[in-house]
Amino acid sequence: MMILLTGGAGYIGLHTAAVLVEAGHEVVLFDNFSNSKPAGLKRLEAIIGRAVPCVEGDVRSRQDLDGLFDQYPIGAVVHFAGLKAVGESQAQPLRYYDNNVGGSLALLAAMQRAEVRRIVFSSSATIYGNADSNPIPETAALRPANVYGRSKLMVEEILRDLHAAAPGWSIALLRYFNPVGAHPGGLIGEDPNDIPNNLMPFVTQVAVGRRPELQVFGGDYPTPDGTGVRDYIHVMDLAEGHRAALDWALRDPRELLTANLGTGRGCSVLELVRAFEQVSGKAIPHRIVARRAGDVAACWSDPSLARERLGWTATRSLDDMCRDAWNWQRNNPQGFA
Ligand code: NAD
Ligand code: UD1
Repeated sequence: MMILLTGGAGYIGLHTAAVLVEAGHEVVLFDNFSNSKPAGLKRLEAIIGRAVPCVEGDVRSRQDLDGLFDQYPIGAVVHFAGLKAVGESQAQPLRYYDNNVGGSLALLAAMQRAEVRRIVFSSSATIYGNADSNPIPETAALRPANVYGRSKLMVEEILRDLHAAAPGWSIALLRYFNPVGAHPGGLIGEDPNDIPNNLMPFVTQVAVGRRPELQVFGGDYPTPDGTGVRDYIHVMDLAEGHRAALDWALRDPRELLTANLGTGRGCSVLELVRAFEQVSGKAIPHRIVARRAGDVAACWSDPSLARERLGWTATRSLDDMCRDAWNWQRNNPQGFA
């Protein structure tokens, strides 16, 4: 039996593939390379020491998906494929709904045809929007403040409706907080196109000399040092969270489980910058500028449900995240290019 990773050539997909293969799973990746490069696959193969099947195709194409399910003995799906840039989603809503919602619908229909009823879905903490308080439990109100977040919430709703109508399905909705870092070997990592939107890749690109300075968006938030607070989680911990969710789904619980994947600890922008400077020995020139529209002051998870239901807990520290992010960037100043 094989595990299908849609969007498997992306940042989280590659790391999860490495963890799953190491745990003894057979995987097949499926990606249209709209936000990833085939070079990443070669690196994955170097890490695990053998070839990994990867099919190039689009998750919105029933033809591509039906061919995939006919070709491989797929028993469960981890559905990463999607677009994830918040600003772009506001400017191109139809493209985001088509890709993220339309792609998920096509995938679910293809799974139904192939009688595959186990799925782990990449949701996001962004669906909580501006939460009333921290830490955020799974029961918090869902109020996404942008198109990207709404597309994730729509897919969650579709999966809840599917489960209500067809209880034979085992469905895990994983709400990621802020994934950062890289595989410790430095062969795979985050490789954003253009100017990074997210903090950690921006910091590593400053450290490696690709950008002159970091702009810190807002120094007057009601947080201990005035900068935004987030729950950064090492991508290897996140990958292990997927392994735990998959093992749960493979036991056929026929349930729908919704779990935060985070550390439960908040970290400010300045704390992250200081940790990175210490670990890397590189100064990160930075300047406090105006707040970024749409940002919340603070957001961190209550991760206890994942511990109780999946037996999973994040174990890696902020220093580990900085060290591995730096190791990747230093060895690959231009990413996979
Ligand atoms: P990524 O862009 O690196 O990976 C997504 C992959 O999906 C890419 O390889 C892309 O080429 C592929 N893809 C996109 N549309 C496709 C389509 N129509 N058909 C086939 N392949 C397609 O992003 P990531 O950081 O690895 O994120 C993976 C998932 O996790 C996404 O769904 C994202 O929304 C979600 N997520 C990410 C974060 C984060 O901070 N990275 C946080 C919360 C949730
Ligand atoms: C962003 C997305 C969120 C997505 C997440 C993925 C927005 C509004 N939200 O969240 O939907 O799920 O990425 O990880 O875009 N910062 C700087 N300077 C920078 C970049 C960021 O100061 O150059 C600050 C931000 O203001 C924030 C923190 O760093 O306080 C983290 O930002 P980022 O990495 O973009 O993540 P989120 O905003 O949490």
